[in-house]
Amino acid sequence: MHQKMEDGRLLSICFVCLGNICRSPTAEAVFRRCLEQADLAEHFHVESAGTGDWHLGCAADRRSQATAAAHGLQLPGKAQLFAAKDFCRFDYVVALDEKNQQRLRELAPDAASRRKILLLRRFDSLAAEHQNDVPDPYYGGPDGFEEVFAICERACQNLLQKLQAEGTKSASLTSDADA
Ligand code: 4NP
Repeated sequence: MHQKMEDGRLLSICFVCLGNICRSPTAEAVFRRCLEQADLAEHFHVESAGTGDWHLGCAADRRSQATAAAHGLQLPGKAQLFAAKDFCRFDYVVALDEKNQQRLRELAPDAASRRKILLLRRFDSLAAEHQNDVPDPYYGGPDGFEEVFAICERACQNLLQKLQAEGTKSASLTSDADA
C-alpha cells in the first residue's frame, strides 16, 4: 500500500493532455470509478488539466461526453491549464502522451517535480513497446473516442493497482522523467 494511503493522507494525482477536453477528463473520470470500485475514493484527490489554453473554462468535448455516458460516466469538469506551480499540489502528474510529457518536463521547476511525471500508456498492458501515447481523438471520428476510453480503462486500473502495491516514498512509482 502506498505510504500516503497508509498514513491516511490524500494521494493527489492530475491527468494532463493538451486541451483538457477529451483525453484527460476521460482518464480522470475512469480513474475515479476505479477508486470507487476499490473503495479507495477517500484516499485520493484527482484532477485533470491541459498544457494548452485554447479551451480554458470549457466543458468536455461533446464526443468525449457521449462516449463516457455510453459507459456510465459523466465528465462534469471545466478545462484548466496545468502551470508550473501545480507540481507542488500533486504527488503524480500523469501525461496522456509524450508531447505533453515533454511539455510537463519543460514546465517542471526542479528534479523532484520531474520525478512526479508519469506516462499513462506505460500502464496499458496491451500497448506495444513504442505505443506511448493515448492517441489524440480531436480531429478524428467516433472510433478514436472509444479507443481513448478503452485505453484509459486498462491503464487506470493498472495504475491504481501499482499505487496500491507501492510502499515507502511519496512519489515512488517509476518516473519516466529520467528515462
Ligand atoms: P485533448 O484533445 O488534448 O485530449 O483534450 C484536444 C483538444 C483540443 C485540441 C487538440 C486536442 N485542439 O487543437 O484544440
